[in-house]
Amino acid sequence: MRKLSIQFVCAECQTHYPRWQGQCTDCLAWNTLTETVEERSSPKQGIEAYSTPIKLKDITPKPSIISPTRLSEVDRVLGGGIVQGSAILIGGEPGIGKSTLTLQMAHIFASEGKTVLYVSGEESLDQLSLRSNRLDTHDDSIFVMHEQNLSGVIAAIKSIRPDLVIIDSIQVMSTPTLNSVAGSVTQVRECAQELISLIKTINTTLLLVGHITKDGSLAGPKVLEHIVDVILAMEGQKDKSYRLLRCLKNRYGSTQELGLLDMTQEGLKSIQDATAMFIDEGALNRPGSVITPVCEGSRVLLVEIQALVVDSGYGIAKRTFLGVDPNRANVMIAAMDKLLNLKLMSKDIFISIIGGLKFSDPSIDLAMVTAILSSLTDTPVGSKVAVFGEVGLTGEIRATPNAEKRIAELEKIGFTTVYYPQKNTIKYTPTTLKIVPVSDIQSIPLYT
Ligand SMILES: Nc1ncnc2c1ncn2[C@@H]1O[C@H](COP(=O)(O)OP(=O)(O)O)[C@@H](O)[C@H]1O
Ligand SMILES: [Mg+2]
Repeated sequence: MRKLSIQFVCAECQTHYPRWQGQCTDCLAWNTLTETVEERSSPKQGIEAYSTPIKLKDITPKPSIISPTRLSEVDRVLGGGIVQGSAILIGGEPGIGKSTLTLQMAHIFASEGKTVLYVSGEESLDQLSLRSNRLDTHDDSIFVMHEQNLSGVIAAIKSIRPDLVIIDSIQVMSTPTLNSVAGSVTQVRECAQELISLIKTINTTLLLVGHITKDGSLAGPKVLEHIVDVILAMEGQKDKSYRLLRCLKNRYGSTQELGLLDMTQEGLKSIQDATAMFIDEGALNRPGSVITPVCEGSRVLLVEIQALVVDSGYGIAKRTFLGVDPNRANVMIAAMDKLLNLKLMSKDIFISIIGGLKFSDPSIDLAMVTAILSSLTDTPVGSKVAVFGEVGLTGEIRATPNAEKRIAELEKIGFTTVYYPQKNTIKYTPTTLKIVPVSDIQSIPLYT
């Protein structure tokens, strides 16, 4: 017999509660409980089929079929391309380009003679057609439907048997077997689970578009992140055309790579030469601005870190950090205060990575220290000078991975000097770039 029960479910950890409370007592997250109506049926009668354990060495896995997407930056992030039969979740803010990217994927699949089913739950078919005109993706084997009912989608998948299914977005889908509203934790979990188990049985690839919450994490239940094979996150800035594509989870490859795409009238295009795209030559050479090479997977990006140090008024000194890890920035300031005797407690300090980028790589520590020193002493570092290295609590500059690769890129771009950790051994000798080893923050030779 079926029973309806009202439950409150935590979106983070899926713990169920009989009544609402502000904090989940299990994972301690605040305001994550949502009301859901769950249908419970009595235990199934009869014989259930169980699987039998087999020896691991006896399994001969089927080779995975990987389809390159022809967008080199997407392939870089995915580790070669889309694995057939995988479930991929694409998350990002509204207007970032999720629907554009998925429609481009549909076009790539279709142009290889594969069948695609694009389920648009958010936009009308007219809107989809207008975008398709702009992106030139009118292929013969792309089927579209405007549907929010999961049963309709399942029926369409079963009848068309597509090679790729796109659900835009999973938050607007709902299954009539549950009474809760679309977008609720139970609906999203149930719809995703049902779709994934279907595509796994017919070896079809699934692209799920997902919303993100105000704090930037994927909306919906945490379990969604566990059941998909790959999670892609699209980021960018409203006023800029570049888009960053990161892989937050990948069952088939690395999650280290960063993809750089450009949003154009004709859709997303790969950015080939990205090393120096975030630095603006004209704005450099001012006090407080420093360039540092950051490693993102196999690529090196040059980023500009700026610091502004001013005398603070009354009260506690202000500290504002944009794009850098605030904890690391505070540690750097404390270390400089003590080791360089700078009395920074009476200064307001602002640190920012230009271009709205965010990096947590500790190799940017030395650039933060240098930018603060540069602003404090009103001395420009120079537009052709770069620094990198992790700084410890005692002011020592620690060895940094990929030092040679960073140095090689700086030489390629035409930098004249680089300050790098003395602990790194550099076997390669640059011809046009002067390399200066530094051991601790007390011996930064920039102002001597
Ligand atoms: N004609 C155009 N030329 C260039 N970019 C456009 C054009 N039309 C839309 N865009 C870009 O596409 C974005 C919308 O993409 P879309 O795929 O609908 O985003 P999402 O599905 O993530 O909400 C807009 O924010 C804009 O950046
Ligand atoms: Mg969209």
